Amino acid sequence: MTTPTPLTQDELKALVGQAALRYVVPGDIVGVGTGSTVNKFIDALASIKSQVRGAVSSSVASTERLRAIGIPVFDANEVEQLGVYIDGADEIDGLGYMVKGGGAALTREKIVASLARQFVCIADESKRVETLGRFPLPVEVIPMAAAHIARRFATLGGQARLRLKDGQPLVTDNGQHILDVTGLHVTDPLAMESEINQWPGVLTVGIFAHQKAQVCLLGTAQGVQTLTY
Ligand code: A5P
Repeated sequence: MTTPTPLTQDELKALVGQAALRYVVPGDIVGVGTGSTVNKFIDALASIKSQVRGAVSSSVASTERLRAIGIPVFDANEVEQLGVYIDGADEIDGLGYMVKGGGAALTREKIVASLARQFVCIADESKRVETLGRFPLPVEVIPMAAAHIARRFATLGGQARLRLKDGQPLVTDNGQHILDVTGLHVTDPLAMESEINQWPGVLTVGIFAHQKAQVCLLGTAQGVQTLTY
């Protein structure tokens, strides 16, 4: 008897991207996140695109991908509420709290998530953690405040690094910069999100506790697990 080959991370992402289709209500506008897992969801969405009225997107990259498959993209200001927001995560804990922003789209992700009644996180099992903080915490900052914010993180035991692209500071879709902070143990995600949000110059902190997931479709070797919080 041959042992089945374990699924690759890419295959697990495709599996959860496909599984997320069941949260898309025909005729509704769906909130769409950003990243390689969401790209699999967008690919799957193509198969039911005639049933989708449109999307609100969290990044230029996802907007382009949605338009390429013929899904209309609405401005967030045109929509009062969304039934569901579907997005990946860099980390998710046992309560549905997440770290996000590895793809630099955290600010728009938080805005679109806040419009939705339900956040469905799609992730492969490598993203599941006991305590947030293994993945460097992304923080979108106004450039003139970056050094001061980095010093404030040092007082919490964190080391903040400016994210670079091609040797230059990465510029987000919102024209701002990203600090990636290592060395933090996010034991109280709600409190830490609230505190860092107060710091002048912070646009968005990548802790999604106030905008946590209600559902996680977790891609595992045993298949897709549906976790609810
Ligand atoms: C984008 O800014 C992020 O929040 C993504 O949701 C997160 O980085 C997960 O991305 P992957 O699906 O590519 O791992």
